Amino acid sequence: MMEVHAPIGVFDSGLGGLTALRQLQKDLPHEDYIYFGDTARVPYGGRDGETLMHFAKTDIALLLSHGVKAILVACGTVSSVILEEIRDEYEIPLVGVIESAADAAARLTRNGCIGIWGTEASIRSGSYAARLASMGYERTVAVPCPKLVPLIENGHLHDEGARAAVREYLAPVLAKRADTLILGCTHYPLLAELIREEAPGLALIDSGAESGVTLRAALEARGLLRSSGRGTTRYIVSGCPADFEARGGGFLNRDLSGKVEHQDAEAFGK
Ligand code: DGL
Repeated sequence: MMEVHAPIGVFDSGLGGLTALRQLQKDLPHEDYIYFGDTARVPYGGRDGETLMHFAKTDIALLLSHGVKAILVACGTVSSVILEEIRDEYEIPLVGVIESAADAAARLTRNGCIGIWGTEASIRSGSYAARLASMGYERTVAVPCPKLVPLIENGHLHDEGARAAVREYLAPVLAKRADTLILGCTHYPLLAELIREEAPGLALIDSGAESGVTLRAALEARGLLRSSGRGTTRYIVSGCPADFEARGGGFLNRDLSGKVEHQDAEAFGK
C-alpha cells in the first residue's frame, strides 16, 4: 500500500535533474523529495542499452530503499531508452520527461518545425521525434550534443568553450528554420542563458521543468498528492558531495553546504 506522505524520488546522472526538481519544489511544495544524482557514473548519454539498463535499475533500487511513492526519471536518456521496457516491473508510478516536453513543443511552435537536442542515446532512440510525429509534427531536426553534459558537470556554463559547442549544435536547427527547440537532456537548461544569447528568437522547452505535469497527473490518479505541509528535500550523490553542493546549490540558489549525502548506486546492483 503506497503512503501519501512518502517522498517522491527524482534521479538523473548528475546535475540535470535539478531542472525538474526546482520546478517541482515550486509546483508541488507540499511534497518531500529525495534527489539522487549519479555523479560517479555521469555521463549516461554515450552508453549502450545494457549499461543504461543497469544504471537505471540500480538508481531506482536506491530510491526505493528510501520508501518513495513515485519516481520521476529526470533523465532524457533513461526516459528515451529504458523506461518503457521496465515501467511495468514496478508497483509505484515511474514518470519520464519525453511526453510533456514534446507536448509543450507542439503547443508552442508556430511554423511546425521543431529542433530536438539530446544525448547520443536519446537521439538514436528517436523518442522525442516519435512522440511529435504521433501528434502530426513530422518536421523535426534532431541533433546529438555529446559535448554539453561534460561542460555542464564541470561548471563551464558561460565560457567560450560552452559558447562554441552551443553554436555548433544550433547551426543545423537554425538552418532548417525551426522556431522551437526541445532541450531534451535535462542538463541543457543550465546553458539556457547562453543559448538565448546565440538564438534569441528560438522558443526553448525545458524537458525537466515540463515533466511535473505528468508526475502530478500520475499522483492525482492514485490519490497520492499531498495538499498540506511544507515539503523537504534530501540530496544524495554517488560521487563527490562537495562538487554537487557548490554547482547544484548555485543552480538552485540554495546553500547546500554540508547537506548532500553520499550513497553508491552500485551497492544496489547485487
Ligand atoms: N541529464 C541526462 C539526460 O537528460 C543525462 C545526460 C548524461 O549523463 O549524458 O539525458
